[in-house]
Amino acid sequence: EKGTYPHYMLKEIDEQPLVMRKIIQNYQDDQGNLTIDQEIIDAMNDADRIYIIAAGTSYHAGLVGKQFIEKMAKIPVEVHISSEFGYNMPLLPEKPLFIFISQSGETADSRAVLVKVKEMGYKAITITNVPGSTLSREADYTLLLHAGPEIAVASTKAYTAQLAVLVILAEVTAKRRGMKLGLDLVHELGIIANAMEVLCNEKEEFESIAREFLTVTRNAFFIGRGLDFYVGLEGALKLKEISYIQAEGFAGGELKHGTIALIEEGTPVIALATQESVNLGIRGNVQEVAARGAYACIISMKGLEAEGDTFVIPEVHDLLTPLISVIPLQLISYYAALHRDCDVDKPRNLAKSVTVE
Ligand code: F6R
Repeated sequence: EKGTYPHYMLKEIDEQPLVMRKIIQNYQDDQGNLTIDQEIIDAMNDADRIYIIAAGTSYHAGLVGKQFIEKMAKIPVEVHISSEFGYNMPLLPEKPLFIFISQSGETADSRAVLVKVKEMGYKAITITNVPGSTLSREADYTLLLHAGPEIAVASTKAYTAQLAVLVILAEVTAKRRGMKLGLDLVHELGIIANAMEVLCNEKEEFESIAREFLTVTRNAFFIGRGLDFYVGLEGALKLKEISYIQAEGFAGGELKHGTIALIEEGTPVIALATQESVNLGIRGNVQEVAARGAYACIISMKGLEAEGDTFVIPEVHDLLTPLISVIPLQLISYYAALHRDCDVDKPRNLAKSVTVE
């Protein structure tokens, strides 16, 4: 039930700190260490390459998950859109492992790939919010999101839950492979939960950005570099699906190769700057678009703020910024939809789970 909330989406955005804490609990052993079934970790360790298969928001989580697994566990990862996998089937190595990410566990495009790879005799893990779902039943192993039912069509808490489960999977695999990470993930995820809470208490900021810049615009851009680019893709999808604004997530450096032609007086550009390594580059991009009349707003991590219209998010571990930088984007989309009188929880032309190919 949505209780006192006007929409499920807002309720589900607000549930994210709680979901984080539930995930930490569910993946901890008696000693407080993060743990995952030995069989799953063996399958990870045995793989010479991992294939993440997903659609929509879950695909965007996969893009970040690849970075977690490659940086922490040092296993190469490819991320594929499920509906494309059959056409552009990669050349598979000897021991591939497939990870399906699906909130509902019912997405037909993902299921088609799962059926195919099982036929080929490969192992598959499903990361899903729904125990007993089709993708969970048909895979060899399941990792649950513990996010509670997600009712709003636009996925929010499932995305951050997917990121948390992926980073836990990466960490436990890395430990098993004897890697020294120099990171206490339980502690860092606790910091994430607190940072999420801070952001959920700053809704007016995001409401005013949405009201001022997204109430009448026809288009909007989300730019970022590195991990921020992937979060921008998710921000753009959120805005498109519930506010019907044509939105694009873009790699900051790629703008000048064509898309900057679309920037006009007042075009909203939301830039993410959560990593030291990208800060200078993305600031340069913001100047480029501002010089062409864009309204640019920067969401930067504490310590990286500069002059201009900057919103500062709390400091968290470098690798984990997508878990919190997405929250301002979820809230901006929510309020944009609200100010444009859109049906937030049930956007036109969309269903919660897409059970046709
Ligand atoms: C975005 C959204 C869709 C789903 C996609 C995959 O807010 O809801 O893009 O993410 O249809 O769904 P699942 O994760 O259930 O496979």
